[in-house]
Amino acid sequence: MNSFKKAICQLIADSLRELDPEQDDYSVKELERLIERPPKQEMGDYAFPCFTLSRSIRKSPSLIAKALVSTIQSHLSQHKALTGVYALGPYVNFRVSLSLMASLTLPRIANGEFFKYNERRTLKTELQPRVMIEFSQPNTHKGFHMGHMRNIALGDSLCRIFRYNGYEIVAANYIGDSGTHIARCLWYYLNYNQEPVPENLRGEWLGVLYTKAERKIADATEEARKNYLEEAGLILKLMEAKDSEIMKTWQETRQWSLDDFESIYQWLDVRFDEIFFESQFDEEGKQIVFQELQKGTFERSKGAIGIDLETADLGFFLLLKSDGNTLYATKDLALAKRKFDDFHIDRSIYVVGSEQNLHFKQVFETLKRMGYAQARQCIHLSYGLVSLPSGKMSSRTGNVFLFSRLQKKMKTYIQENYLDKFRGEWHDDEIEETTRRVGVAAIKYGMLNQDANKPIVFAMEDWLVSEGDTGTYLVYAYVRIRSITRKLIRKNHPDQLAILKVPADVDFNLLVHPNEQELIRLLYDFNDTVWTAGEQFRPSMIARMLFDLAKIFSRAYTTCSVLHAESPSLQEARLLLFHCVAEALKEGMFLLGITPPERM
Ligand code: ARG
Repeated sequence: MNSFKKAICQLIADSLRELDPEQDDYSVKELERLIERPPKQEMGDYAFPCFTLSRSIRKSPSLIAKALVSTIQSHLSQHKALTGVYALGPYVNFRVSLSLMASLTLPRIANGEFFKYNERRTLKTELQPRVMIEFSQPNTHKGFHMGHMRNIALGDSLCRIFRYNGYEIVAANYIGDSGTHIARCLWYYLNYNQEPVPENLRGEWLGVLYTKAERKIADATEEARKNYLEEAGLILKLMEAKDSEIMKTWQETRQWSLDDFESIYQWLDVRFDEIFFESQFDEEGKQIVFQELQKGTFERSKGAIGIDLETADLGFFLLLKSDGNTLYATKDLALAKRKFDDFHIDRSIYVVGSEQNLHFKQVFETLKRMGYAQARQCIHLSYGLVSLPSGKMSSRTGNVFLFSRLQKKMKTYIQENYLDKFRGEWHDDEIEETTRRVGVAAIKYGMLNQDANKPIVFAMEDWLVSEGDTGTYLVYAYVRIRSITRKLIRKNHPDQLAILKVPADVDFNLLVHPNEQELIRLLYDFNDTVWTAGEQFRPSMIARMLFDLAKIFSRAYTTCSVLHAESPSLQEARLLLFHCVAEALKEGMFLLGITPPERM
């Protein structure tokens, strides 16, 4: 627990006992939950709101605040963590010793002990809960585009955050390799395609064929459309009947998509522990349907089978078509069963776009009625749309920003604006790798600095500028600090290379500038912020913390010069502080899935 909050709550609990002797059960833990950060730094470091107390004490919150302050003041000197207490309307505001805060934080960051704190916290208190996070889930035979990136950024970041917080995580993917869209793609590929199969990016090429197929059907005369749909329907039937000829084509083309996906994940630094495929759950889905039909959970309706969820206001959930074939929904039941049975997970998270909100409500309700207690631990983490300035993205209509085009455009922009000046001086490999890291930072940060439910408009150049709330800005702040601290460490401690050993006599009392103090506070709160970001599924909280760190560092860079510090001991203290800011930026970016370059 935050030792400053603890001291504050101890004082408040003691004073409340004096103020309200009849009531003797003010628990420090409960009080701690009420503690807030004042909106402005000038107002103090922590604030305790008195609203809830007025119920038992029967005075106005601001009178209670005044009374608390006068009793607390007399005890304040016993707590070296606290330096001041003030009543501010209905709040009791506290100032804490920032040099103490710095001494508790900075040496531990520099020594590499600080950032694993949450893991140890969870390990101590309980068995590591096992959580499966399913994300990405692209469809084969469709193009991989910018919209998919939001899902990946979110899912991967949550895996990293939960791991940091001490959970055992299974990162899962569930690839869509069956269904109507594939039949349509193959229909076009087998009957109308004139182009040779390309050497690279074959999956993306298939996606283009899929779009062409949809367009051909949409643009046809009524007569022709009927024909086309019949032809494509035949392919679907052959696929469902596992016809060996069509299965061969399916296998081969499916692999083209999988190869593309693999290289995209690699580029993005994303890994999975488990990959499921829709096609694996067809048979199991059918079995479930008939078992549940027999048990009476499911019912027949007009030749098809499903479950009546009217009482939960979720309509009739269709699970087996009248032709005996399964649906997307059926496979989700089988997938969920596999997750529960084989992986023994305590929580099952599905990162999927908001257009499937109803679907997941129906799936979870059905699982519950099938008797799965774990259905209550299933969470659909829904996120909003990513659109282009030109409107909604859709593989069907072809209005997409395909991944390879994105990669190419980003590369040109990043190299022209930031890296071409290093050509000749840097090895080509470093230029390429730096390009990749900056691109990944821009995309992931842009996808994560907003909460999941907010829509995002992707405008590449806005995300790649080095000023403002962008991943590029963070990367720049990071390399800038590294270059300053590297120079100084080399000068002041020639024996230490880039790793800073904390001098025993560093004087934290010298860090008195408001910018320095704000940095100390942000660093001290790092682990709590990450903890909350995980519990609330909000990587955006980490993005905000990093942006604040970078912004305040930029201010401190001019107001609190480390190179021209007034004394050697001030220089040492600032060097340690800035070094810790860089370490925190690196760790925080890691939690968003970003690896910054070390120079730029
Ligand atoms: N591949 C699906 C789609 O593109 C998403 C799969 C989501 N996960 C699931 N368990 N249904 O719509």
